[in-house]
Amino acid sequence: MRVFVTGASGWIGSAVVPELIGGGHQVTGLARSDASAAALTAAGAQVHRGTLDDLDSLRDAAAASEGVIHLAFKHDIAFSGDFQGAADADRRAVETFGDALAGSDRPFVIASGTLGLTPGRVATERDGHGPGPAVAAMGSGPLTRLATAELVLSLASRGVRSSVMRLPPTVHGEGDNGFMATLVGIARDKGVSGYIGDGSNRWPAVHRLDAAHLFRLALEEIPAGSVLHAVADEGVPIRDIAEVIGRHLDVPVVSVPADEASEHFGWLAGFLAADNPVSSALTRELLGWQPIHPGLVDDLDKGHYFHSWSA
Ligand SMILES: NC(=O)c1ccc[n+]([C@@H]2O[C@H](COP(=O)([O-])OP(=O)(O)OC[C@H]3O[C@@H](n4cnc5c(N)ncnc54)[C@H](OP(=O)(O)O)[C@@H]3O)[C@@H](O)[C@H]2O)c1
Repeated sequence: MRVFVTGASGWIGSAVVPELIGGGHQVTGLARSDASAAALTAAGAQVHRGTLDDLDSLRDAAAASEGVIHLAFKHDIAFSGDFQGAADADRRAVETFGDALAGSDRPFVIASGTLGLTPGRVATERDGHGPGPAVAAMGSGPLTRLATAELVLSLASRGVRSSVMRLPPTVHGEGDNGFMATLVGIARDKGVSGYIGDGSNRWPAVHRLDAAHLFRLALEEIPAGSVLHAVADEGVPIRDIAEVIGRHLDVPVVSVPADEASEHFGWLAGFLAADNPVSSALTRELLGWQPIHPGLVDDLDKGHYFHSWSA
């Protein structure tokens, strides 16, 4: 299949591209810089130069493809105070892809997240589609992202084989520069490995290579209008994560009171406080997906997060 991939140069995209090529697909990746274009070429992909804001160009690339995987997101502005701007740009890109693919029966897979689904209860693929306390507590940017995911599912009725891949807050693996690397960096800087309160709140997790495989299965096989959970670990208590980090850095493992969490963890505090257990039983049943790479604690225990050049 000729697949157009946005975010192909990113953390997840750079695992998805070789997974697709290894599966016999031809990949064209969106690249907004020379560096990203060079990385895509080196990975064996074709390059489509442009940004998420070049809607005509995105429309052309989607129309020329036999399927689209949308992974690009403006994390640079989202994590520096303009999540709404990032979510709005994402929405416009998704609307553009929807219009380009309408009536084609071609696959369109987007990345979404599990955070905020059903705190205190294991969330399934059927959750997260309507109002609820967690949704009511979300800011407008995350709400926009949620609405965009619902828009993608609704494209099934317009002849698009659309699906939403919910990713856990940590998509881990060697080279990770995301939440887990940030947590390790905070522990190193503070000289203690912290968790909030009693640390019993849980994060789901998936290895980057297992997630990449699921994106390929979704592209190839998924029925229109499906939600998938790229979740290998259903819920790892944050205290367990802090303990592995403390052991590897040889620093004490400590509870941080909730009212000091922002000062200790900075922007990560809100995410780290979340209780987000998530099942992928329906996804596994639907696609026969079986994660084969290390779970979060085993991956942390492999040691690569603690090399001196890591965050
Ligand atoms: N990683 C996780 O743990 C996680 C968890 C939940 C959800 N997700 C979602 O999964 C998707 C992929 O995440 P990721 O971790 O792979 O993100 P990432 O490493 O930050 O990569 C983002 C990608 O988007 C591209 N991009 C950013 N702004 C762009 C713009 N204005 N125009 C064109 N391309 C642009 C980047 O291009 P450059 O390479 O040129 O910068 C990069 O390829 C995102 O939607 C993310 O929110 C990720």
